[in-house]
Amino acid sequence: MEIIDGYGRPIVDIRISITQRCNLNCIYCHHEGHHERSNSVQREMTADEIQRIVSVGRRVGIKRVKITGGEPLLRSDVFEIITKLSKLDGIDEVSMVTNGLLLDQETCNRLKHAGLKRINVSLDTLNPQAYFNITQKNVLHKVLEGIDIALNSDFNPIKTNTVLLKGINDADVKDFIDLAMKTGVILQFIELMTFNEINDDFFKKYHVDPSPIEEVLQGIAEHVEIRKMQQRKRYHLNNGTVIEVVRPMHNSAFCANCNRLRVTSDGHLKPCLMREDNLVDILKPLREDASDEELYQVFLQAIALREPFFKE
Ligand code: 5AD
Repeated sequence: MEIIDGYGRPIVDIRISITQRCNLNCIYCHHEGHHERSNSVQREMTADEIQRIVSVGRRVGIKRVKITGGEPLLRSDVFEIITKLSKLDGIDEVSMVTNGLLLDQETCNRLKHAGLKRINVSLDTLNPQAYFNITQKNVLHKVLEGIDIALNSDFNPIKTNTVLLKGINDADVKDFIDLAMKTGVILQFIELMTFNEINDDFFKKYHVDPSPIEEVLQGIAEHVEIRKMQQRKRYHLNNGTVIEVVRPMHNSAFCANCNRLRVTSDGHLKPCLMREDNLVDILKPLREDASDEELYQVFLQAIALREPFFKE
């Protein structure tokens, strides 16, 4: 049975962070809204635990799973996780967000074999120096190579995630369109987010209002589509390029159409990306042998806490 939250929103997507570990260190990273990081050993869910959570989640209406991190490919059992999830009846799609650094041929083959449907690659710039400045690693060439390998391994189209950063990549839109023309990747420009606008000096310095970029895209697009998911606009250019713009900040339509629940890498259901004060621990009861019915009740608790962060 599909559950509708208190604001009329069904819960269809689940976004699971399978590790907090990452091999890049991006200056803007929101860590999927989970800041309780410590360098000590962290509680990470096992593949079986992740499968159990999603399996119960189907009862509230979950149909699609996105695997994220940290960097999900740092987990050696990522293939096992994807296999287990994609085999679940009623799960239509398992996809993944990665920084692309570890996308070699063997990995792509194994991901395909495991049943992964789609890949999003974080790619904030096409300039090697700027890439280093953002990620602290000189590996842009490796990531571009990874995207090529994935495209040739039948992960097509690949979506790129580009977080707009003032003075760093906000003038790169044309370069990205060239990349899309050459390779067929779908571009996704994402507005920089913060959880604390008042005190966030980084946000103040680097936040870009996507409106001028959207105006340019509107001017050159052959056709503009509004996606149901979060009311994202999708621009289709006449050269075949597809560009989406994601605007989370102060966007009530974004929140009104949110049908996503998150799971932190240490096993808490997270009703809202923007909030850390309403997490619901599901791993603890699971490890204490809770029944499916009890875990279902934990889902209902988390859903009851769902509330649009930005309202009209
Ligand atoms: N603002 C917007 N998007 C972010 N991401 C990470 N941090 C932020 C932020 N502060 C997105 C990136 C990355 C994905 C995992 O999360 O697009 O690809």
